[in-house]
Amino acid sequence: MNHFWMPFTANRDFKKAPRLFSSAKGMFYQTPDGREILDGSSGLFCCAAGHGRVEIARAVYQQLSELDYASPFQSAHPLAFQLANALSQIIPGDLNQIFFTCSGSEAVESAMRIALAYHQAMGQSGRTRFVSRERAYHGVNIGGASLGGMVKNRRALGPGYPNVVHMRHTWQEERRFVRGQDAQGQHLADDLKRFVQCYGAETIAACIVEPVAGSTGVLVPPLGYLQRLREICDEHQILLIFDEVICGFGRLGDAFAADAFGVVPDMMTMAKALTNGAQPMGAVAVSEKIHNAVINATKNEQLIELFHGYTYSAHPAACAAALATLTIYEEEQLFERAAHLSDIFLDAVFSLRDLPAITDIRGYGLLAGFDLKTKGEPGLHGYALQKALYEAGLHIKTTGDAGIIAPPLIAEEKHIQHIVDVLASVLKGVG
Ligand SMILES: Cc1ncc(COP(=O)(O)O)c(C=O)c1O
Repeated sequence: MNHFWMPFTANRDFKKAPRLFSSAKGMFYQTPDGREILDGSSGLFCCAAGHGRVEIARAVYQQLSELDYASPFQSAHPLAFQLANALSQIIPGDLNQIFFTCSGSEAVESAMRIALAYHQAMGQSGRTRFVSRERAYHGVNIGGASLGGMVKNRRALGPGYPNVVHMRHTWQEERRFVRGQDAQGQHLADDLKRFVQCYGAETIAACIVEPVAGSTGVLVPPLGYLQRLREICDEHQILLIFDEVICGFGRLGDAFAADAFGVVPDMMTMAKALTNGAQPMGAVAVSEKIHNAVINATKNEQLIELFHGYTYSAHPAACAAALATLTIYEEEQLFERAAHLSDIFLDAVFSLRDLPAITDIRGYGLLAGFDLKTKGEPGLHGYALQKALYEAGLHIKTTGDAGIIAPPLIAEEKHIQHIVDVLASVLKGVG
């Protein structure tokens, strides 16, 4: 136990009483002592098609047996093109150019690099500022962490990327227990306008938001909020980036949040459910306009247009996993299934509202968050819940004192009821 420095974990406490998963199938994990744990958050929002999908395992095995690796720089393999084509079929608008990465964090860094490269190509290299949002989570690398708006994630960051400003988050204290999109709050998007007035549009490269802020505890955008961001971006030639690392692939009842909310950004980042969590992979979907500007800025076709990429970009095993995953999503109509289940799911989660431990609940699609009363230092109550749930046979994600529920899209009503029953009984204990 001593040598694994665990990420985002209370290492010392964990190692005294480890919470281990040894296998998984469908909706359930198994523990080494033979208990079943219902997965109420798709692992970490990854396993949308449920666990142990043999179709994906077979595709990865077959691919590794045939071609284990090919350099993605100046060479390629067919599956990378197939996957980019398949993604462009389900991604809205003209976001048809796919740049592959190995994680959500790298997708965000890549989107930042592409935004900067685009403005340089357009002769506007002064546009280096990024507008993000309080309570945002965009991964852990220097760029994404600088965009982030959760204080503990910024503590060991130092100066980070220098040119980031944060809009207000969309949680409104006086508007608790709003299910779906709040009719009030669109005005919060005008923070972007204020940054234009304060810094000048000619300094702003892009505005990046999670359409539903996930990791902070599920903040659903108010009605008209994303539309307003789109309008301001258009007015001032600011790129709009949706970070769909959690929202993408059916979580909100549509392929992407961009579909669910009817707003098409200029770039979209994705990861997690892209491979059903079976292989590490992320991607940035980029509009034709941005792609063509960057590509055509280099006049000589013999030369590289964008000096950016990863050794494992479009890794053959990850491409195979993603293609098999997309086939499952389509054949089993899992995005439609999420849309169908959403009301049942939100009814069930909102039935917890009268528990004294809970101070707010929010949700959209098959994604919901709740806040717990803080007890002592922030984060302790959430951690106590996480530990108690493991003993009670349920896994959900907690962040600080918030809980996030995001079951696999294959969930049945009985699983949703089970999640809520276990939460209610455990919260009575730790609340
Ligand atoms: C919106 C968002 N962006 C980026 C990331 C980072 O992804 P990864 O952990 O794969 O680097 C996450 C992870 O939860 C996320 O939710």
